[in-house]
Amino acid sequence: MIMSEFWYYRESKEPEAKKFMENKPEPDYDLSYSIGERDFVNTGKASSEIKLALKRLGVDNTILRRVAIAVYEAEINVTAHSRGGNIIANIYDNCVHVVFKDNGPGMKDINQSMEPGFSTADEMIREMGFGAGLGLPNIKKNADVLHIESQEGANTFLELVIFYE
Ligand SMILES: Nc1ncnc2c1ncn2[C@@H]1O[C@H](COP(=O)(O)OP(=O)(O)OP(=O)(O)O)[C@@H](O)[C@H]1O
Ligand SMILES: [Mg+2]
Repeated sequence: MIMSEFWYYRESKEPEAKKFMENKPEPDYDLSYSIGERDFVNTGKASSEIKLALKRLGVDNTILRRVAIAVYEAEINVTAHSRGGNIIANIYDNCVHVVFKDNGPGMKDINQSMEPGFSTADEMIREMGFGAGLGLPNIKKNADVLHIESQEGANTFLELVIFYE
């Protein structure tokens, strides 16, 4: 078992994003959710509530869309590929930091999981319309920071940051 880790910083945001990640201040407030294994009925709640919270702060629609997509894809992955877990969204006045922790079984190789088209989704998940292997690439496309830690047989940790401008 090899512990693997993936880091991505959007180039245009790298200096402020690194500063944020190295010394995370206390959020203004946070929202937390738990996700049950294969609980597709409740999946989507976190992404829509986080989006609504940011909308209330006056965050631009383009950013809201990026947050909704990135959080939804990560949320679906916990539902579809893990034994369940939890989500915490830390809300700041200039960015949102969302953390996903699940109860395993982890990924064999994060870099392989990041490849567009790679999927281990089973028949049931595919029948629900998931399993194209595009969720993680889509999270990367929409996030300013993406950090994943995982290992086969262990929990998966995923965090992302999106700045409001
Ligand atoms: N939380 C997780 N725990 C374990 N494995 C995961 C997790 N998230 C993603 N993976 C692995 O990474 C693969 C790729 O994920 P990705 O979201 O890109 O595609 P997908 O979920 O299979 O399909 P899509 O997101 O397009 O519906 C998954 O098929 C799965 O093997
Ligand atoms: Mg997915």
